Amino acid sequence: MPSTDSPQRLIVGITGASGAIYAQRLVQLLVAANIETHLVVTPLGQRLLHDELGMEGIDLPALAGHDASQDLPTDRFFLHNYRDVGASIASGSFTHDGMIVIPCSSNTMSAVANGSAQNLLHRAAHVTLKERRRLVLVHRETPLSLVDIRNMQAVTEAGAIVCPASPGFYMLPKTIDELVDFLVGRVLDLVGVPHDLNVRWAQPKP
Ligand SMILES: Cc1cc2nc3c(=O)[nH]c(=O)nc-3n(C[C@H](O)[C@H](O)[C@H](O)COP(=O)(O)O)c2cc1C
Repeated sequence: MPSTDSPQRLIVGITGASGAIYAQRLVQLLVAANIETHLVVTPLGQRLLHDELGMEGIDLPALAGHDASQDLPTDRFFLHNYRDVGASIASGSFTHDGMIVIPCSSNTMSAVANGSAQNLLHRAAHVTLKERRRLVLVHRETPLSLVDIRNMQAVTEAGAIVCPASPGFYMLPKTIDELVDFLVGRVLDLVGVPHDLNVRWAQPKP
């Protein structure tokens, strides 16, 4: 983990599991927090951005929550081609403060569990593990097969954190956005990004 209080540079992977809204909210908060953000999206991840958020292509302003009047911070917000396994984030020499795969499909979790690198996202995750950096997999599938469960065990033993996309209800959410913020807030906690999202349980006073 970084020596500074808050991470400076993070990688975000988006795969073809349901929950594109989690990715959008996370990216929006990272960009707003001025964290250098490196994005890689699988083809099925792109399809989910379209199917669930109505996005045409990988719409960086929409992911960052920017409107037409706002310039994207091109010096600290980067999109990498998922095919380019020679991109900077494929190398262990590219220092960073963690990688989050959100949402993470069972397919990608299997690739991470088995150390295969069929695309840049897999390779960046593998490198994150080998360099002993933080890797958070926001897995979404239900129910789980024994294969998924074994892959979860394997990635956990290798040093990753499996953070299932299963928001809690004890903060009494009223909207989908509140449910999304609960999960994204827990993810931000795992990579050390300060936030004021409503995730902290406090025992009600009697
Ligand atoms: C609409 C849609 C929803 C999907 N939802 C999930 C899901 O929630 N979890 C999952 O593991 N796979 C899901 N899949 C299947 C994955 O997209 C598929 O396994 C794909 O190969 C994943 O590739 P990737 O890991 O490279 O993104 C979904 C596919 C589609 C088209």
